[in-house]
Amino acid sequence: PSLDEIVNLHDFEAVAKAILPAKAWAYYSSASDDEITIRENRAAYQRIWFRPRILRDVSVVNWSTTILGQRSSLPVYISATALGKLGHPDGELNLTRAAGKHGVIQMIPTLASCSFDEIVDAVVPGQVQFVQLYVNRDREITKRYVQHAEKRGVKGLFITVDAPQLGRREKDMRMKFVDESGVAKVQENQSGVKKDEGVARAISSFIDPSLSWKDIPWFKSITNMPIVLKGVATPEDALMAYDYGLAGIVLSNHGGRQLDTARSGVENLMEVVAALKTRGPWPNPKFEVFVDGGIRRASDVLKAIALGASAVGVGRAFMYSFCAYGQEGVEKAFQIFRDELEMNMRLIGARTIDELAPDMVDASGIHSH
Ligand code: FNR
Repeated sequence: PSLDEIVNLHDFEAVAKAILPAKAWAYYSSASDDEITIRENRAAYQRIWFRPRILRDVSVVNWSTTILGQRSSLPVYISATALGKLGHPDGELNLTRAAGKHGVIQMIPTLASCSFDEIVDAVVPGQVQFVQLYVNRDREITKRYVQHAEKRGVKGLFITVDAPQLGRREKDMRMKFVDESGVAKVQENQSGVKKDEGVARAISSFIDPSLSWKDIPWFKSITNMPIVLKGVATPEDALMAYDYGLAGIVLSNHGGRQLDTARSGVENLMEVVAALKTRGPWPNPKFEVFVDGGIRRASDVLKAIALGASAVGVGRAFMYSFCAYGQEGVEKAFQIFRDELEMNMRLIGARTIDELAPDMVDASGIHSH
């Protein structure tokens, strides 16, 4: 179909499935074990209902916001997803260019298939990027990477903490590893590639499973970027992150690709916010909570924000948008979010992101399955 025929983000997924080589589709779409958590990431949003307010003069609505103190035209950032070139020859640059044009923040993955510098070189003046970190067993490599990112102007460090070992994504494992352009680039930068366990495991053997809270002060000592832990699932760990003086957390299960039957980020959100409120007033400008996983509609975005998230991350929907259409597909995905945000904000009676409040949703059934 032509881009004009794309009506929602699900359409991009269907197109990607139809046109991608089997191996790329397996890598992008797969989740771990029985794929319960990936299903739950969508289902959880469908257990949250709106409590719309009326007669509030919604002639002008504005969904722009700030994320870690940086301007963002959407309350949505592009989460890190590895190996963009499996989907399109321009890989992650599709995201960078579209994001630059529309004021959206991109999180650059450690396992990008374009080089880090290529991605940073593609920004327009004022464009904001974050970086996602897989921590290498060799801390010197990690230190160099982080400090290079900061020097190149990256504004936030997201340390992935839910992947001390990569999940078993069985669809991907069945495909086996065969060398390809995008994958080759990752191999150049990292060592210890295994060739018989699917793409995901092949490219991730450098990740350090010994990472612990004890390492956090070291990260704070090597960078001034705000540090966010990506892949938190409990109030206990949220409070630890807060007490370690970090800038925030992403409630995430890695798009269902790590621990299967982990709960969804949005399901964990309320209890995490409740715990953080014991440390002081909420929202807290010094500590932000993000959510990712399963977001395909602006209504999902608004529900998470109403429940206390400051913004949300989107992985697959943006990846799928560039597979057939490159940069223009990503721009269309932003347009779909804008259109849906405008309509949904009017219909629930919120003129700005700040006006979203817990009483605009009924999440009382969120834990019942
Ligand atoms: C990811 N994700 C991810 N996360 C991360 O910290 N480092 C990474 O390299 C990757 N790579 C990656 C590849 C692919 C193909 C997918 C689908 C996901 C997880 C990602 O950042 C995010 O947490 C999820 O994608 C959010 O769920 P949705 O939006 O895909 O449903």
